[in-house]
Amino acid sequence: MIKLVKSSFHNERETKKKLADFILTAKTFSMDAQCAEFEKRFAAKQRRKHAVYVNSGSSANLILIQSLLNLGKLKKGDRVGFSALTWATNVMPLIQLGLVPVAIDCEIETLNISPRKLKEKIGQIDALFITNVLGFSDDIVGIARVCARHNILLYEDNCESLGSVVGGQLLGNFGGASTFSFYVGHHLSTVEGGMICADSDELHDMLLMVRSHGWDRNLAPKVQTAQRTLHEISGFFSKYTFYDLGYNVRPTEVQGFIGNSQVGFWDEIVQKRQENFRSFEEAYNANDDFFGLKTAHMDTVSNFAMPVICKSEALFDTYRRRFERHGVEIRPIIAGDMTKQVFHKKYAVAGDECKNASRIHAQGFYFGNNPELTKKEVALLVTLLKK
Ligand SMILES: Cc1ncc(COP(=O)(O)O)c(C=O)c1O
Repeated sequence: MIKLVKSSFHNERETKKKLADFILTAKTFSMDAQCAEFEKRFAAKQRRKHAVYVNSGSSANLILIQSLLNLGKLKKGDRVGFSALTWATNVMPLIQLGLVPVAIDCEIETLNISPRKLKEKIGQIDALFITNVLGFSDDIVGIARVCARHNILLYEDNCESLGSVVGGQLLGNFGGASTFSFYVGHHLSTVEGGMICADSDELHDMLLMVRSHGWDRNLAPKVQTAQRTLHEISGFFSKYTFYDLGYNVRPTEVQGFIGNSQVGFWDEIVQKRQENFRSFEEAYNANDDFFGLKTAHMDTVSNFAMPVICKSEALFDTYRRRFERHGVEIRPIIAGDMTKQVFHKKYAVAGDECKNASRIHAQGFYFGNNPELTKKEVALLVTLLKK
């Protein structure tokens, strides 16, 4: 069986041994030096000034949106565009926090929002929380340009695209902030975990407060003093003063330790995922039963999983059965068109139909791409992609 996810960590045996030693010797398990070090190393790899570590990618999305509201960058009732093909907890915080989600369809050959699809919604959105799907992107340089021209705030959900590069720039660095997931099976795994990256000091300070109850304990002393002076808080009460709306979505030192054990593998993981992807892509694009993928504009495709999108439902049945018969675990592409999901119908206003996202859902599946795939497994997957 070629499973979607083959291991919990990269270099699993060694990592587990180190983790066991850490647990036996560590004095602190709540968020501390390990988490801080992982943030520093992650920010350096992502080439962003700040990284804030949290307990999941979903929490990263939630506290990013809450922080933008706390800072007044977004206001309740603002309309936020999102990728119709995405994960539920990309959209849910928009609904939960009083924003109006506006679904934007994707292109079938990139699985992502294009400048063309974005332009159809100009005038209907104040911000865009785009998802970079499965390690791919459309013309994100063009998207950033359209957003800048129309005063649309841009943020990226990069939970599926760590390490992909377009125009010399890492995905996750095209907007004001980006989010990452370290759930098992993602590029880097800390079992559960997530990150928010940003360059703004103001957003960073707010994220630190929102992550921990709305208090100021994790801020730099200078910023703490400024807050306390502004609100006339004395030293005695300062530790129990809550400045803005927050949550508790802190990671633990165990997750911090795992993050530090994994982040050094970043380049190796990205390279292997890209290598595997290039083999799949060649076979995939040579088969006219599929829609084909466009990636020529991307410098690096740090592929999360390999999509197979068939030109008809009959072909979808044929290929789905073929992969299953050969012991390949497959699944729907992310979770399909979000606007068709039960929660969306319950809480959000139906917009225009997202035809491509729906088609990808109805006629597509994906199989896993991970660095542990053997040459033999890659060869089998390539054969299965052939006509
Ligand atoms: C695009 C996207 N956003 C957010 C998430 C949520 O991440 P997590 O599972 O770490 O909460 C995922 C999860 O896979 C995702 O694919």
